[in-house]
Amino acid sequence: MSSSFNAPGSQVLHDLKAVVGDEGWKPAADGARYFEDPRGRFKGRASLIVLPDSTEQVAQVVRICNDAKVGIVPFSGGTGVVAGQMSVDSDAAIVLSLERMNKVREVLIDDGAIVVEAGCILENIHHSASAHDLMFPLSMASKGSCCIGGNLATNAGGIQVVRHGNARDLCLGIEAVLPDGSIYSALSPLRKDNTGYDLRHLLIGSEGTLGIITAATLVLKPVDPETVTVLCAIASPGAGLELYKHIRKQLGESISALELMSDFGLRLVTTHFPALSIPFTEDHDWYLLLEASGPTGIRDRLEEVLEACLEGELLFDAVVAQSQTQQKSLWDLRENTPEANRAGGAFCNSDTSVPISKVGAFIAQTTRMIHDIHPGLRMNTYGHIGDGNIHHNVLPPEGISKSEFVATHPEIVKAVRMAINEATRMFDGSISAEHGIGRLKTEDLELYASPEKQALLRRIKSALDPNNIMNPGAMMTDGPAH
Ligand code: LAC
Ligand code: ZN
Repeated sequence: MSSSFNAPGSQVLHDLKAVVGDEGWKPAADGARYFEDPRGRFKGRASLIVLPDSTEQVAQVVRICNDAKVGIVPFSGGTGVVAGQMSVDSDAAIVLSLERMNKVREVLIDDGAIVVEAGCILENIHHSASAHDLMFPLSMASKGSCCIGGNLATNAGGIQVVRHGNARDLCLGIEAVLPDGSIYSALSPLRKDNTGYDLRHLLIGSEGTLGIITAATLVLKPVDPETVTVLCAIASPGAGLELYKHIRKQLGESISALELMSDFGLRLVTTHFPALSIPFTEDHDWYLLLEASGPTGIRDRLEEVLEACLEGELLFDAVVAQSQTQQKSLWDLRENTPEANRAGGAFCNSDTSVPISKVGAFIAQTTRMIHDIHPGLRMNTYGHIGDGNIHHNVLPPEGISKSEFVATHPEIVKAVRMAINEATRMFDGSISAEHGIGRLKTEDLELYASPEKQALLRRIKSALDPNNIMNPGAMMTDGPAH
């Protein structure tokens, strides 16, 4: 790996601090929160943390770093799980946190849009929208701490993609500081704009490697009058997709969330969160958490459809939330899943997608492959089944801790990871559906992206960031093509 950027010398440090003022920087020694990996696998490092409070300050910081060839690691909410937000093998780079840029600049009610700064916490955007009877439909378990800048930089997905799309689909405009310190500002809430390459979409999902997103114009949608949340007991992932197809046929695009969970997964959650329980008397192998929203009456109509599916044996049982408290209990089972995986000692957490039609066969294949590697391994297979996006979390055999297992069986840990990747390739899938590449999956990208794609990624990187100062080491370890 060639991280050819420099550590900032004393003059550069002085200049950076002068730009952001006393409130706008912290020494690395006070930077513990910027160095944490939510899954505890990495430790970040840096020479300085800067916290600019305006786009102009971000631009000045970037200009100084570009002139001095100092690397910049952009930091948003810190919830990313592929180490995109931390430099792990060098403390030469600076961390640039957007946390002080957390203002809602404008709510454009008649345009159905909101203009926000990158450091706005996702849930605060939800609150700003609902104050106007509108909603911003991007949502995920980390909504209380992740920020929109990082959501866009990683093209985050989450639990409502099945109806509303990824972060990319909900962004109308972008403001970003480019690697030379210039400001690209295109925040108009235009719904149609075919004037050349869509630079917004180049920056979205670029993981801070092409520039720093400082603000965005987001889509707001009307709040549906009625929402209904249901936990269904089903025979298999394939049966869940059949059920989805059937409901869609009857009720159109009203399903806003469709999450697969397993018996093992729910038991893991209820073990680590004893206040939660599985709301069925009988045991089932698989579950589908679905939420539908739409005009008044959608609840009754969904109940009718589910009733018919029950008779037709598309599902075994269903619990329809009757109150907001029940709705929350159902969602708690899903949203505490990542934490339960962590507490249970998962040593592998995948984020793959395959075409929806292949999800059932894909899960059967990965399950077979992992049990062939070691029959005692336990799998929590769950995720956004309506998007074909499955998270396989693999835990050591009962009674063995993660640290012991990883230390004694590194070959199994590697084999599991590669088996999931190989199955993903077999089914024409993606090895990173919604989390990005970061520093965790750079080798996987090299293995699974076509040579043509890899060459293009490097040429784009060279064109925009020839000095490789933007999040060096993320996405591509070697930086721009020369
Ligand atoms: C989830 C995260 C891990 O869906 O993407 O739980
Ligand atoms: Zn997910």
